[in-house]
Amino acid sequence: MTTTADELREEVRRRYAESARAVTESSNGCGCGSGACCADEQAAAETKFGELLYDAEQRGELPDAAVLASLGCGNPTAVAELRAGETVLDLGSGGGIDVLLSAKRVGPTGIAFGLDMTDEMLALARRNADEAGVRNAIFLRGEIEAVPLPSASVDVVISNCVINLSTDKPAVFAELGRVVRPGGRLGISDVVAEDRLSHGERAERGSFVGCIAGALSVGEYTAGLEAAGFEDVAVDFTHEVADGLHGAIVRARRS
Ligand SMILES: C[S@@+](CC[C@H](N)C(=O)[O-])C[C@H]1O[C@@H](n2cnc3c(N)ncnc32)[C@H](O)[C@@H]1O
Repeated sequence: MTTTADELREEVRRRYAESARAVTESSNGCGCGSGACCADEQAAAETKFGELLYDAEQRGELPDAAVLASLGCGNPTAVAELRAGETVLDLGSGGGIDVLLSAKRVGPTGIAFGLDMTDEMLALARRNADEAGVRNAIFLRGEIEAVPLPSASVDVVISNCVINLSTDKPAVFAELGRVVRPGGRLGISDVVAEDRLSHGERAERGSFVGCIAGALSVGEYTAGLEAAGFEDVAVDFTHEVADGLHGAIVRARRS
């Protein structure tokens, strides 16, 4: 029996709603120790996913609940070079860690939007923003394939371990091309496959909801972003999460 895109998306939503509930109830997401649910427990334990990808200074800036809710595979705020006054959008903002860090970087004259489709995650993120006393973070409900913001309204898009979870990646890239203003940029952490791996081989190495089976290859990522109007696309592997699959930083500039 094949799973449709809608069923897969619902599975993703259920998985991350469960994650948000686990953090809310025990401050220890999914009982996996590090709160890293975007991975199997072994990968989490080896600190390849989750809050340990942030340095102590960044972790110290935020409430514990926001840090524990981290489910990413990198640290996009470390590479996005955010400046005061900029508008930032985080695709799949989860418990809000990258939105809160970004909001602090862009300061009171800037704004950081977080977009997520899971109500439980949005509630967690809003609570974390209140607790952190961050006023310039706005959390929007929606899907990354149809971003609820005007065209050319964003300076920088960040995202942490989310694009691999999309069931319609061409739509995500088209939305990136639409919302990022000319000259704007991307600083994305994601799981990315080596070009040698077929889609079947990626699926043999892990599940879709665990951020492995849906990973794009370097060539697919680059071609998708170029087709959406980005240039200077760079995909740099940072750490291997499975054979031929890596945590990676993706950077690009909107033409
Ligand atoms: C692996 S978690 C990462 C959360 C956050 N970026 C972090 O680093 O902690 C994935 C998040 O993306 C959201 N998500 C997945 N697919 C999405 C989609 N198509 N549209 C909007 N949000 C999505 C999930 O609800 C979840 O909060």
